[in-house]
Amino acid sequence: MSTFAGKAVAVTGAGTGIGYALCRAFADAGATVALNDIDPQLCQRAARQINEAVGTERVHPYAGDIADVAAIRTLFQRFVASTGRLDIAIANAGITNYGAFLTATPEDVDRLMAVNLRGSFFTAQTAARLMIEAHIPGRIVLMSSVTGIQAHLNLGGYGITKAGLRMMAKNIALEVGHYGITTNAISPGAVLTERTLQDDPHYEANWAGVTPVGRVGYVEDIVAAALYLASPEARHVTGQTLVVDGGWTIQSPLPAAHPELPGHSSSEEGTDAN
Ligand SMILES: NC(=O)c1ccc[n+]([C@@H]2O[C@H](COP(=O)([O-])OP(=O)(O)OC[C@H]3O[C@@H](n4cnc5c(N)ncnc54)[C@H](O)[C@@H]3O)[C@@H](O)[C@H]2O)c1
Repeated sequence: MSTFAGKAVAVTGAGTGIGYALCRAFADAGATVALNDIDPQLCQRAARQINEAVGTERVHPYAGDIADVAAIRTLFQRFVASTGRLDIAIANAGITNYGAFLTATPEDVDRLMAVNLRGSFFTAQTAARLMIEAHIPGRIVLMSSVTGIQAHLNLGGYGITKAGLRMMAKNIALEVGHYGITTNAISPGAVLTERTLQDDPHYEANWAGVTPVGRVGYVEDIVAAALYLASPEARHVTGQTLVVDGGWTIQSPLPAAHPELPGHSSSEEGTDAN
């Protein structure tokens, strides 16, 4: 695969999980990659591991907090100073904060907004300015979530940030489209990562059970969507949210004793009536 050879790609929140897999995939595909994470040691280690696995020195660590706008700008400027270009920016950094609406604190909500929304907004703005300056018809991808589509118990604060990202993709797309830059969001469903496995040791089986395709999402599923949105082939796709959730958001819950569910005694009668 060489689609991204010569391209420069920045991914935020990439020391582990989906972001790490994205960096690995872009490096495999020939790109030069800026790997950001708030944790400096994790950031260094992740970049080193990918370089060792791919057999190149194309992945560069840029530690920094995406909630800090000055840090975002410095990160991108340093990356562009070394590569001479920025083609793809993925605002992946996001924090998940579980908690009931009734007990959420201003500090919890502020941090969610600062990382997930404001951080993604200024990541996209910084990237777009650099792409425009260099006349590059770049790609911006925001990492939303199915929790921005369907309400999810104890994820209210997180969910509204993820819903905001879907709208952010549309608004940015509208303002940068005439530079040839596209902006889209991805809404992953339940994805198995180190973090989700730590939160729930039965994560894989639990989510497979409520997902129409019968399996949990894997980081490769999100990578495939991002590679498409970042590709030249996706040049006419902008302002969209690609939902990658195995169908989790297409269904509505039914009562266990619903008369039309298979096996229920009155399901035959229901068929005749229709
Ligand atoms: N895993 C899922 O099931 C899932 C589902 C839907 C959406 N998402 C979204 O995908 C993205 C990645 O999720 P993940 O599960 O891989 O996350 P993760 O928690 O496994 O990894 C996120 C990385 O981001 C880093 N990070 C946290 N705050 C940061 C900040 N302020 N600045 C820079 N880096 C920071 C962390 O240190 C961590 O290494 C997030 O935006 C998340 O909301 C994940």
